Amino acid sequence: MYFLETTMLSYLVLLYPILVTATPTATASCAPGGYLSILSDFNLQLPIATSTGGTAEQIPASKLAGCNGYQNSDWFYWNTASSYLVMKAPPTSTPCAKTSGSEHCRTELREANPSSWSPSGTNTMTVKLQVAQADDGDYGTVIGQVFSASFSKPIIELYYNPEGVVTVGLETTTAGGHENFTNIGTIPEKTVFTYELNYSNDELTVSLNGGEANHFSVTQLGTPDAYFKVGDYNQGKSVSSEVDIMSINIVHS
Ligand SMILES: *[C@@H]1O[C@H](CO)[C@@H](O)[C@H](O)[C@H]1NC(C)=O
Ligand SMILES: *[C@@H]1O[C@H](CO)[C@@H](O)[C@H](O)[C@H]1NC(C)=O
Repeated sequence: MYFLETTMLSYLVLLYPILVTATPTATASCAPGGYLSILSDFNLQLPIATSTGGTAEQIPASKLAGCNGYQNSDWFYWNTASSYLVMKAPPTSTPCAKTSGSEHCRTELREANPSSWSPSGTNTMTVKLQVAQADDGDYGTVIGQVFSASFSKPIIELYYNPEGVVTVGLETTTAGGHENFTNIGTIPEKTVFTYELNYSNDELTVSLNGGEANHFSVTQLGTPDAYFKVGDYNQGKSVSSEVDIMSINIVHS
C-alpha cells in the first residue's frame, strides 16, 4: 500500500510540469503585438463594446503594438505553447457588439498603415494560419478580405467552413450583398496552411499554400482602391469560431 502510494505520488510529481505547461494563454509574457510586429499596421475590431448596446470596440494600431499592447483573454491573445495569435468570435445567437452595417460579430484586423491603396501597384497579403473551429454560416467563417475603400463593401471575402472548404465570395455590385461564390480548395480544420490575396496591376488573385492563382474579375466594381482585412468574422447562427494566426506578411510597392 505504501509502495503503491509513493509510486502514484512520483507519477504525479512527474506529471505536474506537463499539466502546468499544457495550460495555455495565461503564460504568455507579451500581448500579441510583442510577437507579431505587423499588428502595429492594423486596427482591431472586436465583438464587444465599451458601453452597453454600443457598436464594436476598435483598438487603434498604436495600442496593438508591442509587448504591452492590447490583449483580451476571451477574443484576442497569444498562445505561447503553439506560438500563434488566437482570434475568437461568437455567432449571432450570442449578444455581441457589431460594426455599423453588419449583422455579424467579428474579431478582425483592418489594415491601417496604409489605410487604403491603389490596385495599380503591387499589393499582396500572405497569412499563415489554421482554423481551429469554423462557424455554421452558409460558407463558414470569413478569414480574410480585400475591402473596397471607395464604396465600403467587400471586394472579395475568403470563407472557410467546418468541412474545410475554402470559398471566395466575389462582390458583383458596388451596392454590396451580391456575392458570386467559387470553391478554391479544401483544407481540414486544425491544419496549418497559407493563403495569399493579391490585388496587383488591377487584377485580383487568391491562392492557397503557394499554389495556383485563382483569378477574380473586378472590372464590374471599377477596380476600386482597397485595404486588407484578416481574422475571424463569424457568419454563423449558433457556432462560435476560432482562427489561429502564425504570421501575416504584406507587400505594397
Ligand atoms: C458568377 O460566377 C459564374 C460561375 O463561376 C460566372 O459564370 C459568372 O460570370 C459570374 N458572375 C459575375 C457577375 O461575376
Ligand atoms: C500578384 O499578381 C500579379 C498580377 O497578376 C502578378 O504579376 C504577381 O506575380 C503576383 N504576385 C504574387 C506574389 O503572387
